[in-house]
Amino acid sequence: VSEASHFLPERRDLPALASAAKSCQACPLHERATQAVFGEGPLGAPVMFVGEQPGDQEDREGRPFIGPAGQLFNEVLARVGIRREDTYVTNAVKHFGWTGDEKRRLHATPNRREVLACKAWLEAEVAAVKPRMIVCLGATAAQTFLGPGFRINRSRGQVFETPWTPWWMATFHPSALLRMPDEQAREEARAHFEADLRRVAERLR
Ligand code: URA
Ligand code: SF4
Repeated sequence: VSEASHFLPERRDLPALASAAKSCQACPLHERATQAVFGEGPLGAPVMFVGEQPGDQEDREGRPFIGPAGQLFNEVLARVGIRREDTYVTNAVKHFGWTGDEKRRLHATPNRREVLACKAWLEAEVAAVKPRMIVCLGATAAQTFLGPGFRINRSRGQVFETPWTPWWMATFHPSALLRMPDEQAREEARAHFEADLRRVAERLR
């Protein structure tokens, strides 16, 4: 059982979950974060996007994917014709983890312990939203569902049938696309990312 399960409320609707997550202390990440950033989107959204964890801006404002990675994500969603407000957008881990100092907070990838601690929130979101499709953005989200052996480079764009949804896919994390130093590799990865989201768009029609 995930550690966060001790903090889950009796009622499992989205507002109750989001509110309860604010006081979760199941892993040390809550200590240095400003607030828990819960998922956003309507009940019954056909697709749930799962990122890694909130970044610096998300931590300050309390909403997922609103910083640079979120902007790239929004652009590609618009290009393939998905309205973000029709989807549910969340993260595998709800509190921002960082190193460095207050002036320059550097994102630190959550470790397996933190990911597993937080998994109960993600599973409660899936149970409440009941999406038809789950799309993981990056390895952290994908490994939360399918285990630490999952590799984006090997399995990106493949559709899996999982206990959570019959249609499950992982693709690149938008931050990874922003970081790739090699221009050609970056353009290729962006094209793959867009093609993956286009498949999601086609299944939404
Ligand atoms: N990166 C993520 O994985 N999630 C966010 O919400 C923002 C950046
Ligand atoms: Fe709880 Fe997740 Fe925050 Fe850790 S990161 S304290 S498990 S909500």
